[in-house]
Amino acid sequence: MPAAAVRLLRRLQRKTGIPLSTDPIADPKKATLEIHCAGPGEPVQSLRADESYTLDVTEQSARLAAPSPIGILRGMETFLQLIRTDDKSFFVPAVQVKDEPRFCWRGLLIDVSRHWEPAEIIKRNLDAMAAVKMNVLHWHLSDDQGFRVESRRFPKLQLAASEGNYYTQQEVREIIDYARDRGIRIIPEFDMPGHTTAWLAAYPELASAPGPYAIERAWGVFDPCMDPTSGKLYDFLNSFIDEMAGLFPDEYFHIGGDEVNFRQWNASSRIRAFKMQKNLPDNAALQAYLNQRLQQILEKHRKKMIGWDEILHPDLPKSVVVQSWRGHSYLARSARQGYAGVLSYGYYLDQMRPASFHYDNDPLGKEAASLADQEKSLVLGGEACMWGEFVNPDNIESRIWPRTAAIAERLWSPREISDVQDMYRRLDFVNGELDALGLMHRANPMKMLQRMSGVENIASLK
Ligand code: ACM
Repeated sequence: MPAAAVRLLRRLQRKTGIPLSTDPIADPKKATLEIHCAGPGEPVQSLRADESYTLDVTEQSARLAAPSPIGILRGMETFLQLIRTDDKSFFVPAVQVKDEPRFCWRGLLIDVSRHWEPAEIIKRNLDAMAAVKMNVLHWHLSDDQGFRVESRRFPKLQLAASEGNYYTQQEVREIIDYARDRGIRIIPEFDMPGHTTAWLAAYPELASAPGPYAIERAWGVFDPCMDPTSGKLYDFLNSFIDEMAGLFPDEYFHIGGDEVNFRQWNASSRIRAFKMQKNLPDNAALQAYLNQRLQQILEKHRKKMIGWDEILHPDLPKSVVVQSWRGHSYLARSARQGYAGVLSYGYYLDQMRPASFHYDNDPLGKEAASLADQEKSLVLGGEACMWGEFVNPDNIESRIWPRTAAIAERLWSPREISDVQDMYRRLDFVNGELDALGLMHRANPMKMLQRMSGVENIASLK
């Protein structure tokens, strides 16, 4: 918490240009902003964290109070947003804020497989997420085009399938600490059994058909797929998940599960025989078999499973979380079957929709609106998705921001806050705040235009 207070003072100084001491004052009577935190945080931040806070500003004092450090972090962001200026000075208007999120899961997915995004870009996005009170970074670390994290047990993963673009375990730890300092959980995704060309380029013996494989250069859904009938696969995944469970402290672990085209499974007489022998009527049932085994491995390593909506299957335990990307109906279906869910359908940033489209997309809208109250409580929130096909370090921030701020508000604020014009007015303000925070979403596109056009003064371009 002292680190957060120092960051607050630094940002205040940057925002106002007023030189301030960056040593927080221990005696609350002498402080300009009193901060009262009633209790310690969880050893590992969870989706049960209390993020509520109150902020009371009067002519005499300013007081921020919260039951937990995470609530204090959220309140600090509100305090910074409230700073105004007139022709005399800077000030915070007298307000009484009593605030808490509507949903406990307010995430952003960043895909670093299709295009590599170095650690500093992840950290800048974490700063921005904290500014808009988001609390989950879903890190899509492997796909057909690259495997992006160091494995010490299976080093060919990064050596043969990343072109040198991967996070070392030390970097991962630093990023997790950075996120935790800002009240953000990090959930790693290792997509399986499809979207696995990168794994198979490194370890072709895990595939359903003989290799060799090379990391994919194009975009789409490809045939290479893990072999769900192979004991070697489960031994490998047990050891890999053991290693990654030690690196990523969050209670959830994302196994992907999306878009398996089943071509390799259909083509293999061995896999077809396995289905017959196990009484698995179709490929969906075979994928469910794989997911059950994966879930048991995760449980052994004290992780809960989350996956894309293709994983929904009644044989999975109710601790599994289903992430709906193919439609609202999947979220409602999951909740009716007793599974918690997170909505991503309607929050795909790569689809280049306006902020108003995302703002209107409510996790409890459409089919979920007809759920019973108990089922509704299984809807945990939502995640914006920044798929990486058409973004690189130059333009990723301008694709994520500021539109994701509109999604963040949809997931934090009461549903009744839905005036689109007012959202755009506030989004304009947040856009400037993100720029001041150091985000490159405005600066980088300008630099790209300059570089590509050779024209220094872009405004002169017709
Ligand atoms: C997905 O967009 N394939 C989850």
